[in-house]
Amino acid sequence: MQPSFTLEDYDRAADCIRGQTRIVPKVAVILGSGLGSIAESVESPAVIPFADIPGWPVSTVEGHAGKLILGTLAGRNTAVLQGRAHVYEGYTADQVAFPVRVMNRWGVNILIVTNAAGAINAEFAPGDLMLITDHLNLMGFGGNNPLRGPNDDRLGPRFPDMNRAYDPGLQKLSTQAAANSGLALRAGVYACLAGPSFETPAELRFLRMIGADAVGMSTVPEVIAARHGGMRVLGISVISNRANLDGSMDISHKEVLTATGEAAPNLELLLKTLLGKPAFA
Ligand code: HPA
Repeated sequence: MQPSFTLEDYDRAADCIRGQTRIVPKVAVILGSGLGSIAESVESPAVIPFADIPGWPVSTVEGHAGKLILGTLAGRNTAVLQGRAHVYEGYTADQVAFPVRVMNRWGVNILIVTNAAGAINAEFAPGDLMLITDHLNLMGFGGNNPLRGPNDDRLGPRFPDMNRAYDPGLQKLSTQAAANSGLALRAGVYACLAGPSFETPAELRFLRMIGADAVGMSTVPEVIAARHGGMRVLGISVISNRANLDGSMDISHKEVLTATGEAAPNLELLLKTLLGKPAFA
């Protein structure tokens, strides 16, 4: 079996980006569903449509603009990915992780992943921000892992450790940043399913039983590729809806986008406070 991408593919994409900006950020931020407005706060931006970068997957979903924005956020050089691709769109997990690999090859060493997620934990409410402390890669249990196929040791080890996948130091900084800016920050385990259908009530009760606090359809392939490449990862979910554990409510993508759009300013404040900290210098 051949891998979908070679090191040269990632480097070609990284070269394309290098050709359009002189900055080399230390941090990349992936903005999930409905959170794209945060990219508008990037100062002195160079904007590259995903479609102009060779190999880069282009999202077909509403709420994912599909642009790479390079500039400064809270005074820090930052790469902001406005939107992402998902496995449910038909992309393979390694295609979904392609942008992370490219960021890594370009020189970025901290990845901040954000997403919209349904709350399984009954204490969580729409609009809450949740620090991801760990994940359940349910999509991966079925073999859908971005590292499937031959391993290129120049990218990372064959069997990467997933202990502390979400960097404890960055988690601590986030908790402090939230406190500094008067924001409530929940913490919990994110379960990744392939989607695109939302979960049945029985599936949600199963997820609760196995320790999930929130559920979504993204993020984990990117985190695995980032950890494979030795990047430090911070994950933040925006709770967009309560999970329908008892079958009493309906959910739609529109509702997800509305709730995340409303919470985006809080996430932006948290990100800016964080980026101001010396760890991101
Ligand atoms: N389930 C799965 N993915 C999601 C949800 C959900 O309830 N909300 C936002 N993304």
